[in-house]
Amino acid sequence: MSNNKLKVLVARKTFPDIVDRLRPHFEVETNEGEGAWSQPELIARLAGKAGVYIAGSEKIDATLLDACPELRAICTMAVGYNNIDVPACTARGVLVTNAPDVLTETTADFGFALMMATARRITESEHFLRRGDWKQWAVTMFAGTDIHGATLGILGMGRIGQAIAKRGALGFGMKVIYHNRSRLSVDQEAPIGARWVEKDALLQQADHLVLVLPYSPASHHIIGAPELALMKPTATLTNIARGGIVDEVALADTLAGGRIAAAGLDVFEGEPTVNPALLALSNVVLTPHIASSSIPTRRAMSSLAVDNLIAALTGGTPLTPLNLIPS
Ligand code: DGY
Repeated sequence: MSNNKLKVLVARKTFPDIVDRLRPHFEVETNEGEGAWSQPELIARLAGKAGVYIAGSEKIDATLLDACPELRAICTMAVGYNNIDVPACTARGVLVTNAPDVLTETTADFGFALMMATARRITESEHFLRRGDWKQWAVTMFAGTDIHGATLGILGMGRIGQAIAKRGALGFGMKVIYHNRSRLSVDQEAPIGARWVEKDALLQQADHLVLVLPYSPASHHIIGAPELALMKPTATLTNIARGGIVDEVALADTLAGGRIAAAGLDVFEGEPTVNPALLALSNVVLTPHIASSSIPTRRAMSSLAVDNLIAALTGGTPLTPLNLIPS
């Protein structure tokens, strides 16, 4: 029996009580599996749906949009939206929203933690201990690199980059340099002593380089062999943005050759598959794309996507739109 409600699809498993907020408004189909659906399955399930809740791995492109003409709103719980062809959505009158701000501090906490774990060799030394290899204490055992007083280099100085810079400058007395298409205002730079530099200078001067820029064709492999060759042999590289920003083959080669000290990676080019060359290295800390993963923050991200979906399809004003669709 039809109830005349619009139909929506929740394409990634999320908190049931947050999904329940959709039910008074829509007929809701959910993905109860842990993983993402393939694009053909997503297309099949989107038949007749007006809106969809997704995360960072569902590919929304012209093929999907053309196969799903009833789709009017795509709401991702992620801040990154490189998986969505926003111009193609706009051209078809499909609203797109993402989830900025709510994950900034949690993601910055994690970026800083990953940088520290990398510099101080925390997982490498833990594995050594768990293997039973710790027979005696030694002066230079797992001697790493200092964080305090070091130069923190940030590539991509958006909200998360600024939150990491604040932790470095105010918490650890780090000197902050950054490179970004646009410079921060003097008012934004002053409290954290941040200084804009050219990309090559950032690579040459950073003791700890953190990548926090959005992924796009322009940032694909923006860190490759030539860029890694500019870094200090004692430097660390931390990537919490998207895997495709770094040429992983070049990075694995650089780490294996000891041409930089270590890397901390939360994101990977082919995730969830990780390049075996990286898995074989001890001077790399690897985590499964969890930078924003605290319970309150994952709830806030899911909640924002749900609020956007409700607003988009019930005549409200979406909170965080990425495009403008005339009503
Ligand atoms: C984001 O929000 O973009 C995180 O990387 C999770 O996908």
